[in-house]
Amino acid sequence: MRSYEEAFSPYWHPVAFAHELKERPLAARLLGRELVVWRTGAGVAVTQRYCAHRGADLCAGEVSGEGLRCAFHGWTYGRDGRCVRIPSQPGAPIPPSAALASFHATERYGLVWVCLAPEPAAPLPEWPELEDGSCATVPLPRLDWDVSAGRMVEIVLDVAHLSWVHEGTFGNPEQQEVLPYEVERLPQGLRAQIVYPALAPPMGAAPPKVDKTTLTYEVSFPFAARLHFKPTLFFKHTVYAVASPWSEEKMQCFYFASYHPNLRMFPDIFVKSELAILEQDRLVGEGQRPKAHPVDFSGEAHVRADRLNLEYRRGVIAIRTGRPIDAPTPG
Ligand code: FES
Ligand SMILES: [Fe+2]
Repeated sequence: MRSYEEAFSPYWHPVAFAHELKERPLAARLLGRELVVWRTGAGVAVTQRYCAHRGADLCAGEVSGEGLRCAFHGWTYGRDGRCVRIPSQPGAPIPPSAALASFHATERYGLVWVCLAPEPAAPLPEWPELEDGSCATVPLPRLDWDVSAGRMVEIVLDVAHLSWVHEGTFGNPEQQEVLPYEVERLPQGLRAQIVYPALAPPMGAAPPKVDKTTLTYEVSFPFAARLHFKPTLFFKHTVYAVASPWSEEKMQCFYFASYHPNLRMFPDIFVKSELAILEQDRLVGEGQRPKAHPVDFSGEAHVRADRLNLEYRRGVIAIRTGRPIDAPTPG
């Protein structure tokens, strides 16, 4: 079994929404590392957060044309982490130790993604609808939950909790049975589809109506989920939830939706109702034990309705053990 950090370092994880990253450098945390994220003329840069000179916090620094300038003594670092200027001794050679650890970084789908390993093990998720101009997007504030990334994804993918946890939002307490569903393998993940008799958000004083919703779940390993909602009453939309692991027991989730750009009222309705839905999930997720996403199947009981989560967990365990995701788990 590889360490959590070793297993997930070779994947892309978001560390910021692109819209959060303006001219100031931004602090980030990923898999136990403290990072600083900033914009350069050649794209986003991500390096270690603390200066190679005397450990000052580079988030307090300034971004200039040359790079990121430390606020303590003005040492300036380029995108690759190498120091390009030491103001106290101009003209002298810059020692090789004057460098920050730097990481692969890219901006896509409105997120800044980082890969901590020298080579990414998998590409970013394929979400072409976010790049062909066919939809608008609306983000939620980051979900800063005391939940492991794997558990978070399992909450998002859980088909059996809707009628229980989401009573009062969209869950339908009348629908307790989970009918059998298929789980399909995708090149980078899994897909499943269910039809759920959700309760549509109430309009005015009218009682909530049952809204037969086709829900398509997709997950890209390790922690990126996309849920497509095709209701009959409410608006068609897609939710993206990408859990970014701070440690084995804690993540932040980057959560946003895409929708038809003509639906001008969608963002307000979505943000309000989704925050209420997610608060229901947070209460459950933060209470789960063990906090770390289990790396075997023995400590919990499993039933047919959990199939999507079981297949997902099988994939995550394969990553932890360094096996190909498609290989069946022994036992
Ligand atoms: S601590 Fe950053 S330049 Fe000295
Ligand atoms: Fe939920």
